[in-house]
Amino acid sequence: MKAIIFGGTTGMGRAIARRLAERGDSVFLMGLDTDDLVRSAADLTERHPQRAEVGYAVCDLEKPDGFSAALDAADAFLGEFDAVIVTAAMYATQDALEADVDLVRRLVTVNYANTVVFCEHVRKRLLARGGGHLVVFSSVAGDRGRKPVAIYGSSKAGLSIYLEALDHKFNAAGLAVTCVKPGFVKTGMTAGLKPPPFAGEPDQVARDVVDAMDRRKPLVYTPGIWALVMLVIRSLPRFVMRKIGF
Ligand SMILES: NC(=O)c1ccc[n+]([C@@H]2O[C@H](COP(=O)([O-])OP(=O)(O)OC[C@H]3O[C@@H](n4cnc5c(N)ncnc54)[C@H](OP(=O)(O)O)[C@@H]3O)[C@@H](O)[C@H]2O)c1
Repeated sequence: MKAIIFGGTTGMGRAIARRLAERGDSVFLMGLDTDDLVRSAADLTERHPQRAEVGYAVCDLEKPDGFSAALDAADAFLGEFDAVIVTAAMYATQDALEADVDLVRRLVTVNYANTVVFCEHVRKRLLARGGGHLVVFSSVAGDRGRKPVAIYGSSKAGLSIYLEALDHKFNAAGLAVTCVKPGFVKTGMTAGLKPPPFAGEPDQVARDVVDAMDRRKPLVYTPGIWALVMLVIRSLPRFVMRKIGF
């Protein structure tokens, strides 16, 4: 695989980048901060069986004008990428969002509109070269309108539907699309939040995601128990959802 990992300097993205590098795949990182990218690229080179160099480009989901240049840099470094994994996203608590309308605008723009724009750039490039794999992190928070994640969850709901439709429309043309729906996973994004039962670890998610890529699965809940949890949540009637805090 010649894989871009957008968000690969932290959390679940970093765990996936490490897993791919350790098995000898070629890796290119995208992220916000040059120092983090340099450090992470050096760490991945150390882990790679052939000590292969790892490339990187700064890319900000708040600045869609920079998407093409970052993807050009990845193509130049990897000699045309064939897989793109997007873990980058914003998170804020429902309380913080309700107190700050501009934060709402930024979060829904980054997590939905600009992530879709980034994926459209990737889709066009992959289809032009006969196909490839697009893996994007959505969330179980997008499976049902829920009090604690009303706004963040809505941004992920839109993203999940877009990814499902991409799979329906372009699978036959060679584009594999995987929508990843993590439950609660212990990363920087969830630091300070109380872990619920079934909270997962980034390494466990990386195993599930790389396995899903190898099998070209269109949807993966991780840790797997969240598929069952969300099946129950999706089936609850509205009067119950109004009462509970989940
Ligand atoms: N952790 C969970 O429980 C959980 C549950 C469901 C879904 N998810 C989703 O899983 C994915 C990975 O999250 P994680 O838990 O691994 O958290 P994380 O380590 O905080 O990863 C998020 C990444 O997004 C980057 N980012 C933030 N704003 C960005 C922007 N404007 N442009 C480019 N990159 C930006 C962050 O960069 P900086 O660190 O430099 O800010 C960070 O590398 C996210 O899509 C998240 O919504 C997480």
